[in-house]
Amino acid sequence: MPQVKKLLLFGVLFLLVAFMAACGGDGGSGTDDSEAESNGEYESASEDGEQVTIVYATGVDTTGKVEAQIEEFEELNPNIKVDYREMPSDTGQQHDQYVTMFSSQSSEIDVFNGDSIWPAEFAQANYALELDRFIEADGIDLEEHFDGPIQAGNFNGRQWALPLFIDASFLYYRTDVTEEPPTTWDELIEQAGELQGEGDTEFGYLLQASQYEGLVTNFVEIIASYGGEVINEDNEVVVNSPETIKGLEKLAEIVQSDFVPGNILNFQEIETENAWIAGDAVFARNWPYMQSSSNDEERSEVVDNVQIAPLPAGDEGSASALGGWTAMINRYTEHPEESWELVKYLAGEQGQKTGAIVGNHAPTIEALYDDPEVQEAAPLFQNPEFVEGLSAAVPRPVSPIYPEISDIIQIQVSQVLTGDQTAEQAAENMQTQIENAMEE
Ligand code: GLC
Repeated sequence: MPQVKKLLLFGVLFLLVAFMAACGGDGGSGTDDSEAESNGEYESASEDGEQVTIVYATGVDTTGKVEAQIEEFEELNPNIKVDYREMPSDTGQQHDQYVTMFSSQSSEIDVFNGDSIWPAEFAQANYALELDRFIEADGIDLEEHFDGPIQAGNFNGRQWALPLFIDASFLYYRTDVTEEPPTTWDELIEQAGELQGEGDTEFGYLLQASQYEGLVTNFVEIIASYGGEVINEDNEVVVNSPETIKGLEKLAEIVQSDFVPGNILNFQEIETENAWIAGDAVFARNWPYMQSSSNDEERSEVVDNVQIAPLPAGDEGSASALGGWTAMINRYTEHPEESWELVKYLAGEQGQKTGAIVGNHAPTIEALYDDPEVQEAAPLFQNPEFVEGLSAAVPRPVSPIYPEISDIIQIQVSQVLTGDQTAEQAAENMQTQIENAMEE
């Protein structure tokens, strides 16, 4: 489907440009471990017929995708056994646990899923094993993937992560309650208020308003829909703008409304998903994977009653946050060869295909959009609304000090949502604090 490809490429192009701008010229690369260790070849016990067990860590998976992938991988690689280590579903908590492990050079996990915002930081901190020599040795063609997600795993010209899937956010709606989802934030506010209660629902709308990384994605997309951004193409902090203030005020209006759950400030993706599949809400904001849970006969009360639409528009149109995950290898693994085999599978055609079919995760390998099995299992990817959403996806600020920037945004935005400060104050504070952090 060439249109999908074109739009996807367009959607991630900005990420690429911004990422290269942020990383370019930054001298201190990750490490030279690769040269030292890879002059000789890594020992591969599994190739000598020995059973090797590796540990694969990922955030909570509610779709069954990870188990299906492990099963398939073990069948293909009878000498490698994979132990699944479940991490928290909150990406920030996962991040901090990995930082604790890797900064003490722990080898307790081998392969892990890394959020697309981590590779630069993990490369620089020497937590990740550089992948180029494996990629070259196995003749992996990175051009089969969309370029943006590949670049997200590249730092200083080296590849530290391979993409697993691309994420963009959508408006989920209940087709048994309405056939016409809102197209602007004001319409959403109106409809969520009016329709709340219909179809046995309790709430009009669900989003992620807890103070964590997901809040940053909700913030970035709503301000973008009004024309606001945090850092511009020239790497200048531009968050203190009337557009940001307008978007943030709209977010606060929604969060403080009567049509969201009273504990919305504790909502992350998993709370959203649980309430959604219980049939509690008319509309919800989430990533593509929730379509898989919505249609899960065993867990969901809303099977066949769910569709997606682009997120509502502000003055500048609809925007959704760009996300996605990659596979990385712990720099301190005792099984680099076997770990690479797993990464190669997960990021390769088979692993991504299973991820798409079981987990509704959007592949980064273009050819999979033409695969009949993927098309059948995930009709979502053929949906023009989906394509539109991906094409409008906006990246989060791209910077080697991203975690600090994210913390500033999380704190300032939260204080607006709780009513402790105005959107103007938050915009001013973010501007000064992010500028200071970037100067240091
Ligand atoms: C999704 C996205 C990821 C983002 C996270 C925020 O998992 O893929 O990039 O950081 O949500 O909660």
